[in-house]
Amino acid sequence: MNLVRLLSLPVSVLLSGLVLLLVGPGLAAAEGNDAEKQMMALASSKKSTKVKEKPFPFPADTPSLKQMKEYRKTYTRLTALQKSALHWNFGIVTYINKGEDRFQHNYNMYVKEFEALDEDDDEALEEIEFKPYDVGTIIVKEQYPLESEHHIDIEGVPLNPSALSIMIKEKKGYDPENGDWRYLQITSSGTMVANGKASDPVVKPLCGECHINVKDRDYVYHTFFTKVMTKKKN
Ligand code: HEC
Repeated sequence: MNLVRLLSLPVSVLLSGLVLLLVGPGLAAAEGNDAEKQMMALASSKKSTKVKEKPFPFPADTPSLKQMKEYRKTYTRLTALQKSALHWNFGIVTYINKGEDRFQHNYNMYVKEFEALDEDDDEALEEIEFKPYDVGTIIVKEQYPLESEHHIDIEGVPLNPSALSIMIKEKKGYDPENGDWRYLQITSSGTMVANGKASDPVVKPLCGECHINVKDRDYVYHTFFTKVMTKKKN
């Protein structure tokens, strides 16, 4: 832990840490009650530093806005908080509105293909079959700067993403050369940075050029999959 990070901790956490350090493991048993109080203080100070979850500020002209607004509650969460392969210190969590079984199937195929290529196993390679997504499929990827304490709560639960990258499977004919996907990028200030086809002059360098590399997987990378239940208690 560097000094800046240490200084940014609440005083109560630092003090209880210091007290525990001074008491030491030998004395801790004798001072059982005090140690317990310290732990309670630590727990409650953790609670008070918890970042609150805020609804994502979608711009009004976001396509499929009505159902996308509730994505945290109504979509299936496909991954844990993952460190993105392509961005330094960048965390992602992925959700899907439907076709989660397809995502899981394609993820398994991606892993199988990876292993088959590694082992030069032509037979296994022949069995690889990716399934495309249905019209109306929406995949939302939340992005988190992992070093920021403002987006992830003290237990490491992702709360307020700094941006959303979204892929929407539009009707046949929207962009047949690129799988009919629409790409969107929205920042946490509610700014639409990109919205359109993979060939759109803004979308192409930002999204399209990279996702075209996985055309065989219907342009979806499927790099991560963790079966996570989305249902909330409340
Ligand atoms: C440099 C390559 C690159 C660029 C540019 C890029 N992506 Fe991705 N995208 C990936 C990779 C790789 C993944 C898999 C997860 C990961 O490692 O981040 C991914 C994952 C996704 C996912 C989750 C579904 C999946 O493919 O697994 C969505 C949605 C997505 N990207 C949308 C976008 C949008 C929208 C843009 C443009 C604003 C964009 N991406 C730009 C490489 C890229």
